[in-house]
Amino acid sequence: MSKKILVLAGDGIGPEIVAEAIKVLDALQAEGAIDVTMEEALVGGAAYDDCGDPLPAATLEAAKASDAVLLGAVGGPKWEPLHFSKRPERGLLGLRAGLGLFANLRPAFLYPQLADASTLKSEVVSGLDIMIVRELTGGIYFGEPRGVETLESGERYGYNTLCYKESEVERICRVAYDIAMKRGKRVCSVDKANVLEVTEMWREVAIETAADYPEIELSHMYVDNASMQLVRAPKQFDVMVTTNMFGDILSDCAAMLTGSIGMLPSASLNAEGQGMYEPIHGSAPDIAGRGIANPLATILSVAMMLRYSLDAGEAADRIEAAVSKVLDQGLRTGDIMSEGMRQVGTAEMGDAVVAALRA
Ligand code: IPM
Ligand code: MG
Repeated sequence: MSKKILVLAGDGIGPEIVAEAIKVLDALQAEGAIDVTMEEALVGGAAYDDCGDPLPAATLEAAKASDAVLLGAVGGPKWEPLHFSKRPERGLLGLRAGLGLFANLRPAFLYPQLADASTLKSEVVSGLDIMIVRELTGGIYFGEPRGVETLESGERYGYNTLCYKESEVERICRVAYDIAMKRGKRVCSVDKANVLEVTEMWREVAIETAADYPEIELSHMYVDNASMQLVRAPKQFDVMVTTNMFGDILSDCAAMLTGSIGMLPSASLNAEGQGMYEPIHGSAPDIAGRGIANPLATILSVAMMLRYSLDAGEAADRIEAAVSKVLDQGLRTGDIMSEGMRQVGTAEMGDAVVAALRA
């Protein structure tokens, strides 16, 4: 039976990079390698401009009714003055919460062809292959109470709440352990157990849950040290599992080890295996509309989608191989450009991946 994909291009470079990902899906569909139907909807600033809501009810409904969601990016300076509840980012957070996408997988994989694109020495990063598993629907992003109030003194008082239920910690740890079982079987749980009670509990639950995974080698690290270790000796990590906010921060850091945030895909999954797939970079308003954005993170997000939600692992492998091939051919968008390579735009890169896929 045909699987349903909801396409949410979003803002900034979103529509440009998503267009290239669709070319890849169309190519696979044309040769019968996959059987999908695609529908488009609005989210983020584009949705706000259309109807005053960054996550229209129709978009959330369509997302719930789909097997997978492909998202470009949301946000931009145009919408920054809006009230918090109307900002494009609320659309993204609303989708995560509305679909129950608690498990965010963010691989930081260095293509050998790009070893020189990293700001770190190539011996520090070559061979890098980390999977960051970020809790995505809890923690300080969603904790209550939250807000800004004015005290009697007239001073403003702002607060957010970092809270986790044991069950939320357990399920994200299980995702991390299951993934690690298919990789190097090592998991580093990142917390701030020396200061925050909730993450001391996180550490305890991580240990208790690991009892079901005797083959997993579990370690623990405070988040400040983890951020230092990521730039000092990143290859010590296999899988990292952490809270929503720590994962947000560490995944940007890890992304940069690979040379460009423009290369990294992500998957956000719920308990049913339904998922949303998006590049981990943002909407890059500074280069939007110029046809120079790197579409590879979005194309690689399609590969994750095929693997995790659409049961098409073989097609996913082919996309990843095609990306590797275009890098071998020396094609580079501006963000990963280096001497002796050929600089191409967004569409030319997408076309090259399609050609490599067909070859
Ligand atoms: C990310 C982004 C989002 C987050 C923003 C856009 C709300 O930084 O996906 O990492 O903080 O989760
Ligand atoms: Mg982030």
